[in-house]
Amino acid sequence: MCGIVAVCGEENAQDILIKGLELLEYRGYDSAGIALVEPGGFAVIKTKGKVGALKDLVKKSGKKGSVGIAHTRWATHGEPNDANAHPHETKDIVLVHNGVVENYAALKEELLAKGYKFKSQTDTEVLAQLIQSRVDAGDKPFEAMQSAIKRVKGTYAIEIIFKSEPDKIYGAKLGSPLAIGTNGRSHFMGSDAIALGHCSNKIAYLEEGDSAVITKDSSEIFDRAGNKVERRAVDVSEESLVDKGQSDHFMQKEIYEQPAVIARVIATEQLGALRLDFGKISKIHIVACGTSYHAGLVAKYWIESLTPIWVEVEVASEFRYRRPTLLEGELAIFISQSGETADTLAALRYAKEKKQNTIAIVNVATSTIARESDAALLMHAGAEVGVASTKAFTAALVILAQLAIKFAEAQGGATDGLINEMKSALANVPALCSEIMGLDSDIREIARKWVVDYRDAIYIGRGYTYPIALEGALKIKEISYLHAEGYSAGELKHGPIALISKGVPVIVLAPYDVELFEKTISNMHEVKARGGTVIFISNRSQCEKMKGEVEACIPMPETDGFIEPLLYALPIQMLAYHAALLLGRDVDHPRNLAKSVTVE
Ligand code: M6R
Repeated sequence: MCGIVAVCGEENAQDILIKGLELLEYRGYDSAGIALVEPGGFAVIKTKGKVGALKDLVKKSGKKGSVGIAHTRWATHGEPNDANAHPHETKDIVLVHNGVVENYAALKEELLAKGYKFKSQTDTEVLAQLIQSRVDAGDKPFEAMQSAIKRVKGTYAIEIIFKSEPDKIYGAKLGSPLAIGTNGRSHFMGSDAIALGHCSNKIAYLEEGDSAVITKDSSEIFDRAGNKVERRAVDVSEESLVDKGQSDHFMQKEIYEQPAVIARVIATEQLGALRLDFGKISKIHIVACGTSYHAGLVAKYWIESLTPIWVEVEVASEFRYRRPTLLEGELAIFISQSGETADTLAALRYAKEKKQNTIAIVNVATSTIARESDAALLMHAGAEVGVASTKAFTAALVILAQLAIKFAEAQGGATDGLINEMKSALANVPALCSEIMGLDSDIREIARKWVVDYRDAIYIGRGYTYPIALEGALKIKEISYLHAEGYSAGELKHGPIALISKGVPVIVLAPYDVELFEKTISNMHEVKARGGTVIFISNRSQCEKMKGEVEACIPMPETDGFIEPLLYALPIQMLAYHAALLLGRDVDHPRNLAKSVTVE
C-alpha cells in the first residue's frame, strides 16, 4: 500500500504533490510527507495523520519548489508517527517507498555495524541508508540505487532525489506499481493513473525490475539488465476521474452510481473477444480477496447450477502458498477492483506458471493484474475511492453472471428459454437497483433503531445470498467497527447462535425460493426464540406476510432469482453506510485500512 508521487520541473511542485497525495489517500492515510529540493539540500515536511494535516503544515512553512517527492502511508513497519512517516532523508539522498523490505532486519544490522544511524523503525529508512552506503562507497546515483535494490528482498516502488543531482528524480519498481507521465512542460512519477491523471493524460507503467530517471524535459526507463527501453503510454482519462460531486462521501456516491455502472457493463460486450473455448472448460479456479472474493463465491453458485463445471473459489493469500494442483489448460479467474492486490497478483503469477488460461476481472484497466493476465474484463465502474467496495462488487457480479450464461450456452446446461430469461433479467437490473435506492431513508431508520446500539450483528443467507451475507458483515465491520459475522443460515445452529441474546440484530437475507425459503424462515425463528432482532430482507410479498413477526423489513422487488445476489447487495451496503455515519465514523477512510492492498 502507500502512495507515492514525484514532480520534476513544474513551478509550485508542492501543490501538485499535495494534490497527488490527496488522490492517493485511498492507498493509505495514517501519515504523509513531502520533500522539496532547496539550495544545498531538501525541505522535508512530514506528519502523522491525513494529507490534510500535511497540507496545512506545508502552507504554514511557506516552502516552495519545482522538484519534489511525496508519500501517503499505510504503516507496515513502525507505528504511524512523524518519525516513521516518509520521506526518509540521509546525508545525501531523500526517498519515498511503497512496498516492504522483507530482509530489512539483516540489512539494518549490517548498516548499524558500519556506523549508520536510524531515526525511525521503518524498513524504508534501511533502504535509504543502504543507498547512502553505496554513495559513500563512491557509486554515482544510478549505480547506488541499482546496487542497493539488488540486495532487497520484498517489494518496492521508490522515488529518490540525490543532493548531487537536484534536478533529477530516480525511480525503480518491483512488485509495487510505478508510472511516469508528462504534460509537455515537466515530468511526473507516481503510483498510478489516479496520482498522475490530474497532470498527465497519458502515462507509461514501469515493468517489473525497471528503473527510471526523470528531469523537467525528459524521462528514461531501463530494464532489469540496464538497457534503455520504451514502455507503452496508456490513456488514463476514465481511471483518473475522481470527484465526489454533490455527495457527502465517495461511498455514498459510489452506491448511487450502481445503476449506471451496471448498465454500462451490460452494454459493453466484452466476452466475445475472449480467446477461450467455453465448451471445453471443466474446472475453474476463482481467486480474489475481500469483497472480490465474495463476488467469486456468488459465481460458484451461478456457474455450478447452470453447467457441469467444477468451480473452486479461494482467497488469494491462501491459494498462493497452498500451491494447489492446477492442470494445464484449466481456467483461472482473478477478481480485483484495484488490479494491484499483492496476494491476487502472486496467485495470478502462480497460475500462469502452471499454464492456466487466465482472465482478470478488474476495474483499473492499466493495473498490473490486468496487464499480466491473458485477458482482462473491465468493470467500467470509474474510479472507486471509498475504501468499502460497492460499485466494483456489483460490476464484477454482472461480468460473472455474463460468464455463467456464456458457459451455460456453450455447455448446453440450460434451455434457450432459460438463457433468454436470465439475459432479460440481467438487463432489468439497473432499473431495479434504482428502485431499491428509494429505500435509503427506511434503511437509515432501521440502522438507527435496530443496529447501531448493539456490539454485534449477524448476517445469514442461503444459496446465492450466503456470499451476500458474508459481504454484508464485511461491509458493516470495516466502516462502522461493529463486530459482524456472516453465516449460511443452516450453519447458525452449529455455534454462532450462541452469540444471539436480547436485541442482537440478525439480518436475514431470504429471497423467496421454493427449495430454501422455508428453511431460512425456520432459522429466523430460532433467532427470534432467543431474543434476537430480525431485519428481514425478502420479496415484497414475503415482507408483507412477515411484518408482524420481525422487527424490520426491507422489501425487495419480485424478480428472477438469478439476479437476486446483485440486488441484495444494495441494502446491505446502504445499511453499513448509514450505521457507520450514525456512529460518527469516517466512512471513506475507515481506521487501519487502505483501498489498495499491495502488501501480503
Ligand atoms: O482491489 P481488490 O478488489 O483486489 O481488493 C480486495 C480487498 O482488499 C477489498 O475488496 C476489501 O476487502 C474492501 N475494502 C472491502 O470493502
